[in-house]
Amino acid sequence: MAKLGSWFLVLLLRFGSALAYQAEEDTVYEPVQYSPSGSLWPLPQKLHIGPELYRLSALTFQIVHSPHSTAAVGCSMLDNAFRRYFYYMFGSSARKDTPGLADSAGDTEELRQLQVIIIASDPECNQHPSVTSNEAYEISVTQPVATLKSQTVWGALRGLETFSQLVYEDEYATHLINKTEIFDAPRFAHRGVLLDTSRHYLPLKVILETLDAMSFNKFNVFHWHIVDDPSFPYQSITFPELSAEGAYHPVTHIYTLADVKMIIEYARERGIRVIPEFDTPGHTQSWKGIRNLLTPCYNGEKPTGAFGPINPSLNTTYDFLNQFFKEISLVFPDAYIHLGGDEVNFECWKSNPAITQFMQKQGFGSDYRKLESFYIQNVLDIVAANMKGYMVWQEVFDNGVKIKPDTIVEVWMERNMKAELSKVTLAGFTTILAAPWYLDYITYGQDWQKYYRAEPLQFNGTTAQKKLVIGGEACLWGEYVDATNLASRLWPRASAVGERLWSSEETTDISDAYNRLTKHRCRMVRRGIRAEPLFVGYCDYEYKV
Ligand SMILES: *[C@@H]1O[C@H](CO)[C@@H](O)[C@H](O)[C@H]1NC(C)=O
Repeated sequence: MAKLGSWFLVLLLRFGSALAYQAEEDTVYEPVQYSPSGSLWPLPQKLHIGPELYRLSALTFQIVHSPHSTAAVGCSMLDNAFRRYFYYMFGSSARKDTPGLADSAGDTEELRQLQVIIIASDPECNQHPSVTSNEAYEISVTQPVATLKSQTVWGALRGLETFSQLVYEDEYATHLINKTEIFDAPRFAHRGVLLDTSRHYLPLKVILETLDAMSFNKFNVFHWHIVDDPSFPYQSITFPELSAEGAYHPVTHIYTLADVKMIIEYARERGIRVIPEFDTPGHTQSWKGIRNLLTPCYNGEKPTGAFGPINPSLNTTYDFLNQFFKEISLVFPDAYIHLGGDEVNFECWKSNPAITQFMQKQGFGSDYRKLESFYIQNVLDIVAANMKGYMVWQEVFDNGVKIKPDTIVEVWMERNMKAELSKVTLAGFTTILAAPWYLDYITYGQDWQKYYRAEPLQFNGTTAQKKLVIGGEACLWGEYVDATNLASRLWPRASAVGERLWSSEETTDISDAYNRLTKHRCRMVRRGIRAEPLFVGYCDYEYKV
């Protein structure tokens, strides 16, 4: 009774404060009550949850390969995932007291197994995920065993996440799951998170933890904006002078080949692609380790000592880039490399007499966009020669550079975003949308709702054009972000993007999203992610400090 009494008090107090807040902020608000029933994020495409309940016990429950599906037996990626999800379901019990049995749970049947069925003869266990990976899966939770069916390991990974979200604990610490049927597949194939490791160095652990959190939200691309003006932490094998001179610290603030490989494998085991971005010709101040690569800026006849974008007028530039991207193509297994191409400042090029001469020789007149195009064209050819596809920021398209038909154009400018999507897709290019999801911008209030409401297909275009929009990315630029605040700035705000890119177009109810996301955020906290709160409330299991 005492317990019940205090519950009422807590609820009353929290309703009171809710009213006060609602007056000043037009937000959805409902106090998080002790309501353990599983909450799914992102919402599956088709979902039926029944009132029948099953018990699960950590002592007897198993995730196993179905006896009828042997193709993926011995697939260590999958076995690791079985272990991981078992731990998420049972390993960090919210209530540490000995599990008792609720009246409701006492006569419930026990669910003893989740059987995983991989249908394709090649489960793709030793492959890397790609833009065409099949992430669809079906879950059936019923007696005597639950099943998870997918074509390949990629769908199984997504289904394991969903299954783990269905399991919840009642107030007696009994694990329960409702009878459930799910058919699920992503709406968009490219669901990315961009991290910036140049403006601040991010320790390996932070990146790995982000990959975990990404898998909780069914993201499948880690867009690694690895270098930029401020620092060059990538330790190149061919050109070690790049990080030796360009990293914040040549030993402690770098990513070695072993680090990179570990990140790629950790991501792969979670069905996440790693797409590195080596942004040129602008954003390259930190590439100073390579002699004569950057353009010397002039004041009249004299060099100022400052340097501008990569020098597009020298053959040595392309020799270097050829060797460099050959290495990058080998180190990063994904079929795509992001080549940047954004925000090129022409002032330094304009000041340099050798570049002026080169412009005349090439017949570019005074149109520096032609010079930029000349450079990018060369880089694209180099990367294509190394058998890689490329992604670029929208300026490359806007400036009329000739790009391969399978180029992915990333739209990042929020102004005229819809017109840009129309233009890019009308020209027949595949595109992804980043513009509404620059999570480095912060404001007071529940800005996740703004991210949630953004709809990638809301632009003027034919069905064929809309098919060319293959997804989007939540971008966390690093000016104000390092290991101390990355997780809380990214989560759960990026979760809103995760659901927008995974769930159906009709999944737009903000109040339902609020209820599910609040619980999902608590689940992330419980799994060790410092996801920030959406609003007033608490978690059954608070972050361990
Ligand atoms: C799960 O089952 C319980 C007990 O029958 C029921 O109260 C609850 O509404 C069910 N959950 C969902 C999401 O339908």
